[in-house]
Amino acid sequence: MTQALTISQLEKTSETDGSYAGVSNLYYTSVEEVPFAEFRKRVLSHDDTVYSDLFGGKVFILKNAYPKEEITKLRTAIHEFGQSTPPSFHKVQGNCPNFHTINEENTNYNILMRVHTYHFFGWNDNPVDIIKYLYESIEVYETLTEQDPSKIINNTCDDDVVVRMQAHHYPLGGGHTQLHRDTTEVIKVAMIMMMTKCGEDYESGGLYFLDMFGEKFHPESLLDVGDIVVFYPMLLHGVEPVDTGKTSEWSSEAGRWTIIFNNRPVV
Ligand SMILES: [Fe+2]
Repeated sequence: MTQALTISQLEKTSETDGSYAGVSNLYYTSVEEVPFAEFRKRVLSHDDTVYSDLFGGKVFILKNAYPKEEITKLRTAIHEFGQSTPPSFHKVQGNCPNFHTINEENTNYNILMRVHTYHFFGWNDNPVDIIKYLYESIEVYETLTEQDPSKIINNTCDDDVVVRMQAHHYPLGGGHTQLHRDTTEVIKVAMIMMMTKCGEDYESGGLYFLDMFGEKFHPESLLDVGDIVVFYPMLLHGVEPVDTGKTSEWSSEAGRWTIIFNNRPVV
């Protein structure tokens, strides 16, 4: 079956016929919980309703993408990588290594964040070959974001764009991301996997969306370790400060951890 609909097509149509008036698709409208395997099947068979629902402001929660024990092990391996190598920053060019960096409300970025970010590329396998391990979900992500999954995972800095997987560690004591929206020039969908659980690993804070009345929707209570959230990146969203009353330690594994699916243009 040929794919009839893409996010790009929906964006183009709404620009020309005003059907979305540039408003309704910028806000959260509803949530749907669906088993990961079922959502994957719908995306890979090019079910148009997935695209129109996302563009209409629906947030999908994909249950049970990966087992909790495996994801917890992955989280610990990433944390150990952060502790055993110094923070650094690298442009996406050449044989860019995997690296990690601490962003403590750095004003050089448009969006204020307090987060430890880890960046992983397909040509490195230290500390884990994350792209191979998460391939089933990367396939879903790349299809939604209008890439050929089997091709882009082999891309290198000789191509225009590469897969960049990220881990975000929001420390206790106020790890956060300010309210924002992401552009859709390169990335057509936002996809985030949970590596911790609200109520177990932290008590308050986490992902939220705004609806068109300014009300916040917090999906965290619906999310377990190994679940994935998918949404249209132009929805207004942020991460509320995690456990503000607690002490913050960048070196501690405690806090809120996620995997961010991402593609990055080569410099
Ligand atoms: Fe974002």
